[in-house]
Amino acid sequence: MRVIRRGRRAVRGARAAVRRAGALAGALVLTGHAAQSQDLAEGVYSAEQAARGREVYQDQCATCHGDALEGSVGPPLAGDGFRSVWSARPMADLVDKIHNTMPLQAPAPLSRQESLDLAAYILEAGGFPAAQAELTDAALPGIALPAAPTASAAGGDLAVAPIANLAQLMRAIAFPASNIVFNVQIKDPAADVPPPTGARSFDFVEWGSTVYPGWEAIDLAALALAESAPLFLAPGRRCENGRPVPVDRADWRQYTEAVVEAGRAAFRASQSRSVDAVLEVVDQLNDACANCHRVYRDAGAEGRGVGTDRCRQDP
Ligand code: HEC
Ligand code: HEC
Repeated sequence: MRVIRRGRRAVRGARAAVRRAGALAGALVLTGHAAQSQDLAEGVYSAEQAARGREVYQDQCATCHGDALEGSVGPPLAGDGFRSVWSARPMADLVDKIHNTMPLQAPAPLSRQESLDLAAYILEAGGFPAAQAELTDAALPGIALPAAPTASAAGGDLAVAPIANLAQLMRAIAFPASNIVFNVQIKDPAADVPPPTGARSFDFVEWGSTVYPGWEAIDLAALALAESAPLFLAPGRRCENGRPVPVDRADWRQYTEAVVEAGRAAFRASQSRSVDAVLEVVDQLNDACANCHRVYRDAGAEGRGVGTDRCRQDP
């Protein structure tokens, strides 16, 4: 059966991969926007605190973000890309992002102190001066990161500005929707439709949908694929490793259009309420995903989908 699984091995492979000793990616240089970042320019953390942060960083973050914050499987935490993502945002947001979500999928959260220390280290690496006082929760309100000159172009149109990285978008929509379609291979949508009430928990194999069950779930999954695939072309989206999604490449567009086509074909098949008809488009859908993954996701060292090689502009 065709199931697109999460590419965990890609992350693990990348973590094991040799870390690049590349040049320290451009520091978060002050850009003359002193008015918006006065506090930062005066120093909002101490050198000792940044040193503590550095230790936690090397221990818990460097595998994914690079020894010099240059990015690896995770996005860079220094340089232009980072500055533009965090342009003019409250410092508290950065500390919260670290505290609440990093290290990604870690069993135990960081302490608040560690999160503040890590933010101090990121500031130090970005070229902001140290002072005597430490960065504390009490001091956070009122501190903002500097406005990046290029940020408004990408973030200007709120309605279309992406907030998911590409991997998140794939996991959020393409992954569950495809597996709901693929499920027709092992289960007839007309059989064993769950009762409309009752607490059956969400499970792809159990059908994935209890509110719009049976064939309607296949309809909706096919529509989700066809309608959402163009989001792969949205400008301004980054991949998990911080690279821009290669939306300007002709083959990228073709691979995306192939998913739209496969989604439409799956919808037509589902509308016919024929299992055989859906089985006929399963390969088309699988190929539409796999053809692009081969080039842009899973290529790289030993062909093992090393995260650092994803989304290259010159695959
Ligand atoms: C297993 C890999 C992994 C580890 C370990 C990890 N991160 Fe991340 N980090 C990611 C990924 C992937 C993203 C992008 C997705 C997201 O924002 O959740 C990210 C995003 C971030 C962001 C937001 C960057 C941006 O451009 O918006 C910050 C800040 C961050 N991580 C800090 C840290 C810190 C500090 C640590 C160590 C305590 C850490 N991360 C450990 C994978 C990791
Ligand atoms: C136009 C190219 C393209 C197409 C088409 C495409 N993908 Fe992807 N996919 C990628 C890239 C590139 C990544 C890595 C994204 C990143 O690292 O941010 C990815 C990542 C993923 C992931 C996350 C893997 C992980 O790291 O955990 C899943 C799941 C996924 N894709 C599913 C699908 C499915 C299902 C389809 C078909 C319906 C599909 N993709 C179609 C390019 C594509």
